[in-house]
Amino acid sequence: MKNNFDSIVIGSGPGGYVCAIRLAQNGHSVAIIEKNKNFGGTCLNIGCIPSKALLHASHMYEQSNNEFSKMGITSKTSIDINEMLNYKESMIKSNTEGIQFLFKKNKITSIKGSASIISDNEIKVINGKSEEQYNADNIIIATGSTHNTIPGVEIDEKNIISSTGGLSIGNVPDSLLIIGAGYIGIELGSVWARLGSNVTFVEAFDRILPNTDTECAVYLKKILEKKGMKFILNTKVESVEKEKDKLKVLLSNIENNEKMELSSDIVMQSVGRKPYTEGLGLEIVGIDQDELKRIKVNKDYQTNKKNIYAIGDVISGPMLAHKAEEEGVAVADIISGKYGHVNYEAIPSVIYCDPEIASVGKTEEQLKEEKIDYKVGKFPFIANGRAKVNNQTEGFVKILSDAIDDKVHGIHIIGSDAGNLIGEATIAIEFGASSEDIARTCHAHPTLTESLKEAALDVDSRAIHK
Ligand code: NAI
Repeated sequence: MKNNFDSIVIGSGPGGYVCAIRLAQNGHSVAIIEKNKNFGGTCLNIGCIPSKALLHASHMYEQSNNEFSKMGITSKTSIDINEMLNYKESMIKSNTEGIQFLFKKNKITSIKGSASIISDNEIKVINGKSEEQYNADNIIIATGSTHNTIPGVEIDEKNIISSTGGLSIGNVPDSLLIIGAGYIGIELGSVWARLGSNVTFVEAFDRILPNTDTECAVYLKKILEKKGMKFILNTKVESVEKEKDKLKVLLSNIENNEKMELSSDIVMQSVGRKPYTEGLGLEIVGIDQDELKRIKVNKDYQTNKKNIYAIGDVISGPMLAHKAEEEGVAVADIISGKYGHVNYEAIPSVIYCDPEIASVGKTEEQLKEEKIDYKVGKFPFIANGRAKVNNQTEGFVKILSDAIDDKVHGIHIIGSDAGNLIGEATIAIEFGASSEDIARTCHAHPTLTESLKEAALDVDSRAIHK
């Protein structure tokens, strides 16, 4: 096998594999190194793809038992958890195999093993007992992130699990306690609650989804509570102990230090993620990291070593697959002497619960903090014809536009297909649209997208159906 390349990418998650493909498109000889069995990183193996497979399957199950009868579909369904988990595994397989196909198509050399950087241009790869050395003009670090840990909670991936274990619980547990009501907690908590678990969230903050638009988060919490999920806010988990076949969870209220004890079959921890740089040799070659262990880069994703770059979860910014992909393309173009850039003002985020929450741009809280005067346009899905016939009327679209020039600062949606609707909102922000631009754009009828137009009209109190 060839050992010298123009560029070597370390890590084959959405940041790394997209970067490798773009480098190959730009004419580079490229190798990508991955230490896991499959390509695709967290997203394809233990993140976005498997969680969405389970979210979709569990949503279908919940709908079939609770909603279908309203439309005249009457037979009850049951679940076969093993088959559901097999379905999830098959989705991982087909997606990761897709990446292998893309590597072949783009003539990218894939190398299996654990990479460490041993000098500015050299990488050592260990795979079992074999060790090989490779050279590259450019090295791109895209090693992603791993879950945070908290003292007093020892993850064994059996009863005390991380989000990885949360994707493979073999039997639907009677009770599931989730530490952290953030993205992962809310999504995986929704899966197991739909399948029949009693789900309790313990959240350190005084609200769920701390970085999301408050109004959407408050609205979602009410809906999830109606579905039977419980929330204990302002509270930390002090310890989790095994007691016969149950877990004893000791909680402490952050404000008054009051203690509480709960019992649960399974405890899942989802308290954020941290950059993954273990064994990469950053200290050996002298690559700078910040206080959160993120690799420091300049605007061109260059570390303090001019030919070593870093992208994705391992640098600052939201830990989102699509943010990493954008950076992968940008850095590949920059390395190839082209113009590459990422507009961090227009990165959407989606929480795939039911209803979904999707946002792009600034929240009301950020606008207030930045002392930007803004107008609000809002439209509820209950007034949208398509949402009504779909029997999915929960939620609303909220548009925040500048009080002076009407430029859209942020769009926040809670509703059944918010994750797809946010595409239009992201384009609007990318192109610097005003709410008037959205209001004057013809939207197909009957679609949920009409709610965006109506919310834009509502910025100046002109919504038609409200
Ligand atoms: P997160 O940052 O979304 O939420 C963690 C939550 O845990 C926060 O609400 C925090 O206040 C709470 N917390 C922290 N320490 C705690 C403690 N000791 N006791 C109780 N609560 C505590 O992180 P999460 O959910 O682990 O997700 C990690 C990353 O993965 C996120 O940054 C997100 O960007 C990404 N992700 C994205 C998804 C998507 O795009 N749909 C889905 C899942 C994850």
